Amino acid sequence: MYKIKTLNNISASGLSRLPSERYEIVDELEQADAVLVRSADMHPIELPKSVIAVGRAGAGTNNIPVAKLSKQGVVVFNAPGANANAVKELVLASMLISARNLHDALSFVSGLTADHMEETIEAQKKRFVGNELSGRTLGVVGLGAIGVRVANAARALGMRVIGFDPHMTVEGAWALSSDVIKASGLNELFASSDFISFHVPLLEGTRGLFNTAALSVVKSGVTLMNFSRDGIIDPEALKQGLNDGRIGRYVSDFPKADLIKHPRVIALPHLGASTHEAEENCAVMVADQVRDYLENGNIANS
Ligand code: MLT
Repeated sequence: MYKIKTLNNISASGLSRLPSERYEIVDELEQADAVLVRSADMHPIELPKSVIAVGRAGAGTNNIPVAKLSKQGVVVFNAPGANANAVKELVLASMLISARNLHDALSFVSGLTADHMEETIEAQKKRFVGNELSGRTLGVVGLGAIGVRVANAARALGMRVIGFDPHMTVEGAWALSSDVIKASGLNELFASSDFISFHVPLLEGTRGLFNTAALSVVKSGVTLMNFSRDGIIDPEALKQGLNDGRIGRYVSDFPKADLIKHPRVIALPHLGASTHEAEENCAVMVADQVRDYLENGNIANS
């Protein structure tokens, strides 16, 4: 019997890929051959020698000490692309919410009482006048599975889209709508975008990718959307830009205690991949990979 320890709630569809005649979900890490994890931070965890594989039911692996585990001979699998549609849809929603001031409008409506409701609405609705997305420019930083989908969907909304990715794959290039403009560098993208969406993994080279130098070239009032990782945006540049209005709005999936009440910030509780479909896709993809490795020694992705 192969023994699997789950460190987070892993979708039942994924677990069903590990047939009960050969697999057992165990309570103790010490008993496990493999670990399935979603967002739990594995850095402080010492894995027992019995564990030979870790499956991350998501795209990012920054909650896992990959280099350390690789040295120990543990293979780490992830699920690139499996939640890309979910993230794309939330990016589009966040652009619409931001452009039409929907978050403020909804909280205004929820505070109304029956007294003079119509008069209050008539008197106040001017506050929520927004902008259309059509004709505005979206900059997409990172054209992997998510970035390509975001870029193509924004084109369908009539936006001008400019993208940048020095490591674009052949598949990505084929999938990208041909009318997405390729920026020659990040500064060109930052300088010409009304909205900027980040879709890069958090690595040493991408930490603080949006920094004070980037802030100095953006269009005043730009909307930044971060559904990637918190560390991509330098916190000092963010605060400066929010306080002086160069960043008109920051939509983030990574709430920060000192910014959640800032009038220019819309924060979500890390919901990018939180759809039933994405959770199933990710869990199925990593369960299949871990099973193939445990049973056949195959490494399909790591
Ligand atoms: C990812 O890296 O794909 C997401 O963070 C997944 C998640 O929300 O667990």
